[in-house]
Amino acid sequence: MPDNDMTPASNNKEYGVHIPMENSGFFLKGSAHLYWGMKNRLSRIFNPESGRTVMLAFDHGYIMGPTSGLERLDLVVPPLIPYVDCLMGTRGALRTCISPETNKPLVLRCSTGATVLKELSNEIIGVTLEEALAMNAAAVTTQVCIGAEGERETLDNLAYLINEGNRYGVPTLGVTAVGKEMLRDARYLGLACRVIAELGAHFVKTYYCEPGFDTVVAACPVPIVIAGGKKLPELDALKMAYKAIDQGAMGVDMGRNIFAAEDPAAMAQAVGAVVHRFEKPEQAYALYNDLKRNT
Ligand code: R5P
Repeated sequence: MPDNDMTPASNNKEYGVHIPMENSGFFLKGSAHLYWGMKNRLSRIFNPESGRTVMLAFDHGYIMGPTSGLERLDLVVPPLIPYVDCLMGTRGALRTCISPETNKPLVLRCSTGATVLKELSNEIIGVTLEEALAMNAAAVTTQVCIGAEGERETLDNLAYLINEGNRYGVPTLGVTAVGKEMLRDARYLGLACRVIAELGAHFVKTYYCEPGFDTVVAACPVPIVIAGGKKLPELDALKMAYKAIDQGAMGVDMGRNIFAAEDPAAMAQAVGAVVHRFEKPEQAYALYNDLKRNT
């Protein structure tokens, strides 16, 4: 029963944006009734003290090849690992360029089948849960292209990961991929995040939007982390992270705005200050400049 009256409004009392969801005994939204193994893995991804995470996304090559700023995974990613909570990448990137001695949790990109040269929603799952376990993944992930040509197939991919992950206690991150023809507004992102959560994903990655990001968060019963999107000036990226956290995001899964910053390690730390300590963007930017000067 499609209903056209779906426009979110940040002042709409039905979203209860100022009423946090009850978490009953576990720090993460919507996760109280999960198995111990799931909770343990989620507690590695999200810092139980702040309840939030800074994930470093470097999976861009799986559709884009050598992305600007990420031409040399082996040179770019390892120096950033100490400053982030979690890594998000492909098995090929990890096996070739990241030391297995790292103790940071890994969110493993499991989808494949399309590149920027063709239809991005035409994906399949290319990495099994057994392989994810062999990689010691803390979570698995795929993207969902709501409203795109391959909507059904990408939802099927997500359902596969959730079903298989549930057998082994491995959580699934559902990513809202937004095609060029879609608007990144609260109505679209709210719909996509809610669909992903209702399918059973344990956390969701989406884009910050305004107005109405608070309604996207309020209507999604699992934690949301934001992607960074295209490279912004550092202060603007910190402002976006701050606004997202202020409106209920549980962290970031940021790529280009960290690894393509003028000083990526300083930027990772500045983003961490916003995410975990809720530093104002201007203070975090001052931290960024201090760290940059001292390197
Ligand atoms: C896209 O290829 C990936 O899903 C990225 O992980 C995602 O877009 C986040 O990276 P960024 O912050 O660069 O948008």
